[in-house]
Amino acid sequence: NRAPLVDPFARTISYLRVSVTDRCDFRCVYCMSEDMAFLPKADLLSLEELDRVCSAFISRGVRKLRLTGGEPLVRRGIMTLFGSLSRHLRAGALDELTLTTNGSQLAKYATELKDHGVERINVSLDTLDPDKFRAITRWGDLSRVMAGIDAAQAAGLKIKINAVALKGVNEDEIAPLMEWAHGRGMDLTLIEVMPLGDVGETRLDQYLPLSMLRSRLAERYTLDDIDYMTGGPARYVRVAETGGRLGFITPMTHNFCESCNRVRLTCTGTLFMCLGQEDAADLRGPLRASESDDLLHAAIESAVARKPKGHDFIIDRRHKRPALPRHMSVTGG
Ligand code: GTP
Ligand code: 5AD
Ligand code: SF4
Repeated sequence: NRAPLVDPFARTISYLRVSVTDRCDFRCVYCMSEDMAFLPKADLLSLEELDRVCSAFISRGVRKLRLTGGEPLVRRGIMTLFGSLSRHLRAGALDELTLTTNGSQLAKYATELKDHGVERINVSLDTLDPDKFRAITRWGDLSRVMAGIDAAQAAGLKIKINAVALKGVNEDEIAPLMEWAHGRGMDLTLIEVMPLGDVGETRLDQYLPLSMLRSRLAERYTLDDIDYMTGGPARYVRVAETGGRLGFITPMTHNFCESCNRVRLTCTGTLFMCLGQEDAADLRGPLRASESDDLLHAAIESAVARKPKGHDFIIDRRHKRPALPRHMSVTGG
């Protein structure tokens, strides 16, 4: 019976993304630096605390919960958290419990995820070329991810593939990636690279506007706009030739902030109201200060009351430094 969370721009918060760990078994070149320093384990919220915060948000109208990282499946005991959160699905208080994963541990966890009520998952995969894959992730093994995707499909999970568009790296591979994904009944979403964190590379060297890829694809394929909505920022087309769905996430060229419905919690209990802004609220303090959730709810309310209108990412020659010092792996995208 607590009130829904509505921000100053009349946007209702219905989607919570939770980064359950900042660690990852890969080091994607757009996400982390090669020598990332990870947070001390003692700073992390426990699984019980993560459950408590998620449940508080669900009691305020959050209907979609996505665990991210880092790589969520490398957090020890993570299936316990999925298991406990699944009660909200059964109670009808939550529409979707899901995760975004690099796929490396999926073969191990696919069946359990499905048993916990997960239905649709997002797998990050930017290339089908094993050598390029190793270069992008700095040491990842593509065959493990493929085995993970096989296992997830065998377990009955629906999959969306996320590919970050990288200039000179996978731009010539978008059509084959799409043919492959659609051939296996998976959606594909392309993402414009965002300037978060110093990754030891100039973002301008990585950046490719999706409008360019879209017009290249349109020379070979018929792309029909559809109004398929998932609650995420992607805008989808149906590709007539493959019958599959192709999504575009365009933070740099088409701002979707106007309809933003989400906030992000980090593994240390910091709430970010926008992926592209530094302002954040500590929820760990209020969480630990009392067994009642009153302080927690008060902190959530005051945070949502200052959710900014949107990000102001810029990628150009004059901006050599990243827009924000924080790496993507801290907030999970
Ligand atoms: P669906 O439920 O399938 O729609 O997933 P999603 O797009 O919400 O989640 P996913 O984890 O697949 O995110 C894909 C990409 O979208 C990530 O790179 C995110 O960084 C980016 N993204 C998601 N939400 C936002 C946002 O609010 N702002 C910005 N700038 N990027 C976002
Ligand atoms: N810009 C855009 N997308 C990114 N991701 C990670 N770092 C970035 C970045 N700098 C993507 C991952 C994953 C999703 C959660 O975020 O590939 O699919
Ligand atoms: Fe790991 Fe995902 Fe970041 Fe790649 S994008 S380093 S898989 S957290």
